[in-house]
Amino acid sequence: MDFPDRRVLQVAISSQVWVHEMTDNKVELKKGLRDVYIDKSESSFIDGKAGKLLYRGYNIDDLAEQSSFEETGYLVIHGSLPTSEELSVFDADLKVSRAIPEGVLEIIRQTKNAHPMDVLRTAVSALAAFDPDTGDDSVEATIRKGVRITAQAPTVVAAHARIREGKDVVAPDRDLSHAGNFLYMLFGERPDPEDVDLIDRDFVLHAEHGLNASAFTARVAASTRADLHAAITAGVAALKGPIHGGAAEGVMKMAAEIGSEDNVESYVKDLRRNGKPVMGFGHPVYKAIDPRSVHLREGARLLSERKGRPQWFAVLEALIKVMEPYARKGVHPNVDFWSGAVYSLLEIPDDLFISIFAIGRIPGWTSQVLEQYAANYLIRPRLLYIGPMDAKYVPIEQRA
Ligand SMILES: CC(C)(COP(=O)(O)OP(=O)(O)OC[C@H]1O[C@@H](n2cnc3c(N)ncnc32)[C@H](O)[C@@H]1OP(=O)(O)O)[C@@H](O)C(=O)NCCC(=O)NCCS
Repeated sequence: MDFPDRRVLQVAISSQVWVHEMTDNKVELKKGLRDVYIDKSESSFIDGKAGKLLYRGYNIDDLAEQSSFEETGYLVIHGSLPTSEELSVFDADLKVSRAIPEGVLEIIRQTKNAHPMDVLRTAVSALAAFDPDTGDDSVEATIRKGVRITAQAPTVVAAHARIREGKDVVAPDRDLSHAGNFLYMLFGERPDPEDVDLIDRDFVLHAEHGLNASAFTARVAASTRADLHAAITAGVAALKGPIHGGAAEGVMKMAAEIGSEDNVESYVKDLRRNGKPVMGFGHPVYKAIDPRSVHLREGARLLSERKGRPQWFAVLEALIKVMEPYARKGVHPNVDFWSGAVYSLLEIPDDLFISIFAIGRIPGWTSQVLEQYAANYLIRPRLLYIGPMDAKYVPIEQRA
């Protein structure tokens, strides 16, 4: 344990349980809240040992292969698969909400040199100032806001990417899907349908994922009865960290460093010798294969051929082969492995990768905030104080 040796230090009675010397309170530390269940949820189910993920009861394998982001977004937010009519209404709501107010565009212009996640976080926060439902935290209004933020996030990310390159902002196109619009607004050209399918699938794979750090952060904000914009702003803030949202970026950097299939084995050996992880492998929850990781593999192969860069796919496949022995330790490719490859092959700038994850995750944050509101309690864990007790206050002029 890492308690420093202090005068009022607690007495350890087991590796996790400490008794405070001054208060006699017995305290069990649950660092990082690993394996602590804080509430019930109907939003998603993860079985890390079996490598299984369900959104609202539906297997990610079925959703990735058969659904669309629009349908999955509806499922995650509303709790059931939509009828055709419900899906049309949901899609129409997304379509009318995609444009972002001029005030938010101006904020993006002013912050254009910041990291895209900083810009997205700032823009989501600013969108509250323009949302007609701000101040109304009813279920209906929260759903409307969740749909609007889902629709607006790709516009923010794409507008920022263009503004910082000195290009004109591209307005959303009502004829295109959510994924299609993102690519269109980013590149300013009507996207290839196969590229759209890959990004759509990628959004589906990221839509919801239990009580990860960003969902927990969003729930903590919601537990104070802060509104959805505040909670999603907090979720975006937590997602920015490289341990949570940043691995996709690392995968292609690694592939570029490796360069060719022949170098894979020595590259991995070097990394491991220096105690470094291989990016895109391993997961805090999945000890079997991350079920999301398989659904972009074939698409990435075809994409690397279409883009005339088959060597990328070959390097990544060789990496999977070299990492096979790590399966014994429960280390398999995770969702970021192939999504990083797809974004890179689509020539999306590396620093947008986490923002794409965030775009996909907004339905999940919305659904969990709704759950938090529905049976709210303030999330308020404790810290075990290990500093000095009853220190004597000495006026500043008498301090040495
Ligand atoms: C995600 C991550 C932090 C999980 O770490 P973790 O919970 O400590 O992983 P585990 O406890 O299951 O690790 C078991 C063993 O596998 C090793 N391991 C885990 N991830 C590894 C990786 N990516 N490459 C090589 N070895 C790895 C650990 O060092 C450990 O080895 P040991 O038993 O010899 O000490 C870690 O896998 C990682 O850093 N991965 C790379 C970054 C990444 O892709 N993150 C995205 C997650 S969605």
